Amino acid sequence: MTAQTINGKETAALIKERLKEEIAILARDGVVPGLTVILVGEDPASQVYVRNKARECEKLGMASEVIRLPETASEQELLRLIGELNRNERVHGILVQLPLPGHISEKAVIDAISVEKDVDGFHPVNVGNLLIGGEGYLPCTPAGVIELIKRTGIAIAGRHAVVVGRSNIVGKPVSLLLLRENATVTICHSRTANMEDITRQADILVVAVGKAKMIGARHVKPGAVVIDVGVNRLEDGTLAGDVDFDEVKEIAGHITPVPGGVGPMTIAMLLSNTLESARKFASVKH
Ligand code: GUN
Repeated sequence: MTAQTINGKETAALIKERLKEEIAILARDGVVPGLTVILVGEDPASQVYVRNKARECEKLGMASEVIRLPETASEQELLRLIGELNRNERVHGILVQLPLPGHISEKAVIDAISVEKDVDGFHPVNVGNLLIGGEGYLPCTPAGVIELIKRTGIAIAGRHAVVVGRSNIVGKPVSLLLLRENATVTICHSRTANMEDITRQADILVVAVGKAKMIGARHVKPGAVVIDVGVNRLEDGTLAGDVDFDEVKEIAGHITPVPGGVGPMTIAMLLSNTLESARKFASVKH
């Protein structure tokens, strides 16, 4: 049996089409959703991500600005900039691309972003609301994973979801979202013993570790849904996920490719959060 490939690019395109229409409607009221992305330093992968985010914003009719700071920028400088953006009425979303250089505290930076403009969903208030089921911005990659599973017509409730990885950006929040969707959730990580025995029980397997092709056919139950969040650059310059696609597609029921799986969904969710923020600001103002 060969798995059905889940096309994240196509699904994201459908979502973006709808967002574009909604943005055009908002623009008639004179409101243009604005996203500002801050990039500190020259990390090549981050540069690509930031460029893609800005390009997609513009395609949809949003205002986007990328502010590039040198690797040597101080934490204070960055905090001052965030303060200015928090007060800027044209800016509805602020995203500081991670990772930051070692001399800058990620926590101090994330804490400084206004909760209402935290379209990344990384601020502790938004994370707390995710935990207790309150209102708030959902982090983009985890939200994209859930949206992709649902739009593919896969049921989540009652199924065993196994998440490999426990990062704040993906592993932990995607586990909470799967729980919110009534899955039975198990989290595996670098200290998990006999991981294969656990991942082989998964109806839905979400992998977010950052190690190329670490999940093989031996980790997967026949017919499982496999969602690969990893983006790893191989020595030959090509991209690979955390899942060995060629091996696992022979056993899984559904599988996401890299690229073209979760990645485009992340951007679609970011744009959706930014639109939502613009709407909220507009309704407060009017
Ligand atoms: N670095 C890798 N993924 C992300 C993300 O979703 N948001 C931000 N701000 N930085 C990242």
